Formats: sequence, C-alpha cells, structure tokens
Amino acid sequence: MATKITKAVIPAAGLGTRFLPATKAMPKEMLPVVDKPAIQYVVEEAVAAGLTDVLMITGRNKNALENHFDRMTELESTLQRKGDTDRLHKVEFSNDLADMHYVRQGDPRGLGHAILRAKMHVGREPFAVLLGDDLIDERDVLLSRMLEEQSGRNATVIALMEVDPALSHMYGIATVEPTDDDDVVRITGLVEKPAQGTALSNLAIIGRYVLRPEIFDILERTDPGKGGEIQLTDALQEMAENDIAGGVYGVVFRGRRYDTGDRLDYIKAIVQLAVEREDLGPDLRPWLKQFSAQLD
Ligand code: UTP
Repeated sequence: MATKITKAVIPAAGLGTRFLPATKAMPKEMLPVVDKPAIQYVVEEAVAAGLTDVLMITGRNKNALENHFDRMTELESTLQRKGDTDRLHKVEFSNDLADMHYVRQGDPRGLGHAILRAKMHVGREPFAVLLGDDLIDERDVLLSRMLEEQSGRNATVIALMEVDPALSHMYGIATVEPTDDDDVVRITGLVEKPAQGTALSNLAIIGRYVLRPEIFDILERTDPGKGGEIQLTDALQEMAENDIAGGVYGVVFRGRRYDTGDRLDYIKAIVQLAVEREDLGPDLRPWLKQFSAQLD
C-alpha cells in the first residue's frame, strides 16, 4: 500500500532577479497578489490537497516569510481593540494554516539543491513540492489529482502544461508516451531549457511535483547543469531514463496557472483574480473596459 503523503516542500530561496529591485530586500514569494502574498496561495493549495506539514526552503530575507505564518500579537490586539473582526480573521488565518517548518538553503545553487535541503525533514517518504512563485487557480484541480496518481502508481509524478513552442526554451521540456488515462503521460525524457528551436515537444514542467525519496540519492550525485545550477530536471531525467523507482509520470494540467516570478504574468494574475473578486470586480470591470478602449 502506498504511504499517505502529508509533507509539502516549498522552495522559496531563489534570488528573484527578474523582479529587482522589488526583491532586493524581500523574497519574491512575498509579493502581494491582490491582497495576499503569493506564498499564502501556495500554502493554502497544499493544505486543501490534504498536506499538513509544510517545509519552506528559505534564503536571505527569510524573516518576512516566517513572520507571515506566525502570530503578530501587537497587530492582532490592535484590530481586536478596534472591533475590526474581519481584518483580524484575515490576519489570524495564516497563523495556523499548517505545521510550518523552515530550513535555509545558504547559497541558492538551484532548485535541485534547494530540494536536497529537505532530505532530513522528509525522510524516506514520498512528498509534494510546490514552487513558491507558481500559482494554480484554486478552482482548477491539480495537486490532488497528482497525489492520487502517485498513490496508484507509486511512481514520481510531475505537472506538465502545453506551452507556446516559441517559449519552450524557458521551461523544462518533456518527451512522453500516452497512458490509458487522458490526462496522464509516461515521461521518456526531460531537458531543462532546451536551446531555441530544439525542443522535442511543447509539454513544459510547471511548479508541482510529487516525488519519491530516491530523488535525494540522485540529487546528491547530480552535477551542476544549465546556468551552473543543480537542476531538479536533470535528476528527474535520470529517473525517467532508467525507470528508477517506478519511473516518472506527468499529469497534463489544462487549467489556470500564474507564474508570479515573471513580471508580465504577475500583472495578469492580479488583474484576473481581482476582476473575479466580489469586493473589487464590480468596480474594476467597467474601469478596465474603459481603459482598454483607450489603448488603440
Ligand atoms: P526560479 O528560477 O523561478 O527562481 O526558481 P529565481 O532564481 O529566484 O528567479 P529569477 O530567474 O532570479 O527571477 C523557481 C523556484 O525555486 C526556488 C525559487 O525561490 C522559486 O520559488 N529556488 C530556485 C530556490 O529555492 N533555490 C534556488 O537555488 C533556486
């Protein structure tokens, strides 16, 4: 019987260079998406999929991340005194979302290196990885589908999404073969950021993984790859190619995803989410229409 997965690892130690200077003294995972930091959406997604133990991999400027998921006694008592229960609930909500743990990465030597920092905490169980700057719309199912596949196949499961072929050089790209399930493929090969025009498919890896503990053994001997970083994609490629620990499967996601580490995607995420909000949508929609009419 497959073990029930309870642990989520959230890497949030990258330098966030695409967002400088905003990320000079603050992790990009703390950038607000409407009125919540990106990282809170990610933790909420993990909890909604039944994961109760969250290990965050942090880097410099980790204080803001830790503080966000901790009590803020002064702020809470001020809101209490003012009788502002609505805001008080919003502040308190992130305090007890999950059992939170933190470990430092030290030098950000790549996503694979960040995941390796979770080895002690995770032990020899399968676990989920959610990238702290990658948002999946809560109305679209992904992580619970991946957990279900992992438990059925007892293999490694990663999330894939079709991308514009002109952009495949920005992603890890998978070559695949079909399975009996429409939304599941078996992965035969993976390449991190292939040179423009050389990608063998348009199926890109997005920031959700359900990994088996054997990944740690492979990462420990994985040499730095693209960009001089220890790449998770390279370790997964070894697993897929040699069919290690049941091989690697992909769940093809067709829902809404926002890469908040990219400035344009970040702006789109805020607009898309705000337009649908009951408190902001009714004022924002007519303004947006008027604004876009002035654009051409
Ligand atoms: P990215 O490549 O998007 O993050 O990593 P980055 O390096 O911070 O981005 P730019 O290109 O400089 O703007 C994806 C995820 O992996 C984490 C990041 O925090 C992000 O959530 N990561 C990346 C680490 O935790 N450690 C690393 O060494 C690299």
